[in-house]
Amino acid sequence: MSSKDQNLFSKILSVCKARGFLFPSSEIYGGLNSCWDYGPLGVQLKNNLKKQWWDNMTKRSDVTGLDSSIFMHPKVWEASGHLEGFTDPLSDCKDCKHRFRLDKDTKACPQCGSKNITKSRNFNLMFKSFMGPVEEESSVVYLRPETAQGIYVNFLNVQQSMRYIIPFGIAQIGKAFRNEITPSHSVFRAREFEQMEMQFFTSEQGSEKWFEYWRSERRQQLLSLGLKETELHFKTHSKEELAHYAKKAEDIEFDFPWGRRELEGLHNRGAFDLSRHQQFSGKKLQYFCPEQNKSYLPYVIETSIGADRLFLAVLCSAYTEETVKNETRKLLKLKSHIAPVQIAVLPLSKKPALTSLCEKLYSDLQKNWFAEYDASGSIGKRYRRQDEIGTPFCATIDFETCEDNKLTVRERDSMRQERIPIESLNAFLKDNLS
Ligand code: GAP
Repeated sequence: MSSKDQNLFSKILSVCKARGFLFPSSEIYGGLNSCWDYGPLGVQLKNNLKKQWWDNMTKRSDVTGLDSSIFMHPKVWEASGHLEGFTDPLSDCKDCKHRFRLDKDTKACPQCGSKNITKSRNFNLMFKSFMGPVEEESSVVYLRPETAQGIYVNFLNVQQSMRYIIPFGIAQIGKAFRNEITPSHSVFRAREFEQMEMQFFTSEQGSEKWFEYWRSERRQQLLSLGLKETELHFKTHSKEELAHYAKKAEDIEFDFPWGRRELEGLHNRGAFDLSRHQQFSGKKLQYFCPEQNKSYLPYVIETSIGADRLFLAVLCSAYTEETVKNETRKLLKLKSHIAPVQIAVLPLSKKPALTSLCEKLYSDLQKNWFAEYDASGSIGKRYRRQDEIGTPFCATIDFETCEDNKLTVRERDSMRQERIPIESLNAFLKDNLS
């Protein structure tokens, strides 16, 4: 990362910390490497992103939801290939003792630059634990490294209980855990994170068409969250990069301040996952097609995105600096439907005549919007704070309000101000908050 980009990312992280989006986990104990806590505004933004994804996926007739458990039978991970193959190459620097992931371009220690590094060895990324009071081989369990396997093992449960016919999909949001060798860039690569995954079951013949369909759908959804066309890139996996079972794979990459990185993965996984679970469990997972009067293992089209990585991409895309009257104005140009605060109510002064009006307005607005009430500090400082947290509108009540029953609405990006009657604020927000 160049120093300019490092600087930009540091600024975004410092807004996150100062304004209650993201805190280092267990900070008073010095933090826990790669673990993060979402503050009040962070959890609201992340929940808004998850809700958008969930609604987009499940508010349609051919995709349904699931919430499977984090611990699964250890054989799941044998069948999926994670026990054997979910590894990263690990290397040690013999000079500074730094331990790091040996990527294909890494020739020297990323910490001290020494070329005196050990040969790589494979390191399994799954977190291991023990179920029950005895710590022995037979009680080993793993924290799931992806949510997808919970969907595959429930494929027939869902299909039969909901009487779905193929094609249909199962969507899930949930925590995943990976003992990453080099976690980086806060929640971009963390050891505990959330995935939003959808597995779409289709016939082999339909799989290419559905891959294209979901590719276009996901692109559209990411754009609707405010990510810009120019920041998104589709990278098709080459033959060498493709997993042996996969028919096709593409990464949706995003231009983070430190470079272009994977944001979401799209896969045509063939019938690999279901066939492996069928083989390892000894239970038939074939789908009976009533039209063709035959059973077969469907192909799977997967869309998989990290909620935390999306959260970071949205923040990086929205972060803007402008010069206003020789001062730097920082703002988050968040789309209003995902902003953690949509409307802030600000009394011009703390005089009871104004605060009582504001409190009433605030409690009315809370019924429909993510609203905040802020009475402390100068009005200029309060506007700056709302800009920094991405609030699309502020409603200010001043002494004139007591006479004309009007308030001032200020729009975040243009800073344009307009006086409207208090009772029309709800209608104004309905028109202007998408
Ligand atoms: N089921 C397929 C799967 O898990 P993946 O490419 O390993 O594929 C999918 O992960 C998505 O999960 C990634 O595109 C990324 O958004 C997110 N992700 C993966 N590892 C992550 C980590 N350590 N921290 C945060 N997000 C991660």
